[in-house]
Amino acid sequence: MAKSLADQVDIRPLRANEVKFAVDIWKEQGLEEGLHTLQLWHQTDPEGFVGAVLKDTGEVVGSCAAIKQREDLYFVGLYAVRTELQGRGIGMKMWEYAMKRVGDNNAGLNAVPKHLSTYRDHAGFSHVAAFNTWVYAAPWGELNIDSLASLKDDSVEIRRVNVGDDEVLGMLVDYDEKVHSFRRERAIRVTMDDDDGILLASFGANGVIVGFGKISTNIQEGALVGPLYANSLPIARGLLHALVTEFSPSRVNVTAFAMDGNPDSCRLTEELGLKKLMAVPRCYRNPDVPKADFKKVYAHHTLNFSLF
Ligand SMILES: CC(C)(COP(=O)(O)OP(=O)(O)OC[C@H]1O[C@@H](n2cnc3c(N)ncnc32)[C@H](O)[C@@H]1OP(=O)(O)O)[C@@H](O)C(=O)NCCC(=O)NCCS
Repeated sequence: MAKSLADQVDIRPLRANEVKFAVDIWKEQGLEEGLHTLQLWHQTDPEGFVGAVLKDTGEVVGSCAAIKQREDLYFVGLYAVRTELQGRGIGMKMWEYAMKRVGDNNAGLNAVPKHLSTYRDHAGFSHVAAFNTWVYAAPWGELNIDSLASLKDDSVEIRRVNVGDDEVLGMLVDYDEKVHSFRRERAIRVTMDDDDGILLASFGANGVIVGFGKISTNIQEGALVGPLYANSLPIARGLLHALVTEFSPSRVNVTAFAMDGNPDSCRLTEELGLKKLMAVPRCYRNPDVPKADFKKVYAHHTLNFSLF
């Protein structure tokens, strides 16, 4: 068995200029994220962005995020170690640090199937939710863009939300609160401030927001949809159609994280032509979880930093 490297790494929060190394490690595992997502979520909770740094070279070789969602609730993600250094004690050392931060509070995580039993049976995340998140993807050439266009709700107006649009930001935060049942002002602000991708909001009669969605560049390739929240399937369809057609990396391929807790989210991604690749179970430390409005969730915000 290879010698443990646990005593050769410092475990500490990553600095803003080190986050790009965590992006490289995540990319190396073949896992998705938006181009700037890590940097943006680092701004929401820098102390929660734990890393493993080699003592002698200062190289970042692992990451584990435990991002505070609200006072009593965390979300754990981005758990990865450089491929060549896996199995040598670095992951466990980061994990223990991250769990100290979580303390006695509840926390959730998305488990890749291979690691479900690790989290559920050995890491204290023993409550598995009744729903699965599904990773969906397809190359551009296999998308059914036209069928989405013909079925969308044309009574709503879709508008682009630009960086610094504080009036719309307040409305987005209010809408997002209806989805999550708690306020996520910083998460929505950084999502709006991202100069990669496109953020669109859907306005119903009397200017009320009835949904919003974002598309970004996927660190693997192509485009990544998320979040996509909406009052109804036709509204979500209109947003998804606009996101995919307006963002050029979509022309390579499109990935989205739907969930069977809202069967319409799977229906919509399948209408677009995306294929189910993998089920991702959700684990919590205890069953006391805020009641989200699943009916509004058509694509998760991110699998690493956010509950929905
Ligand atoms: C998962 C990962 C971060 C673990 O890091 P690591 O440095 O390889 O893990 P360690 O060497 O510290 O620990 C190895 C052992 O502890 C287990 N382990 C790892 N993390 C654990 C945890 N949080 N709790 C309990 N056991 C854990 C491993 O399953 C392994 O057990 P085994 O020797 O019986 O197979 C790493 O393997 C990795 O990057 N995997 C690819 C990315 C990935 O899938 N991330 C998880 C996304 S949900």
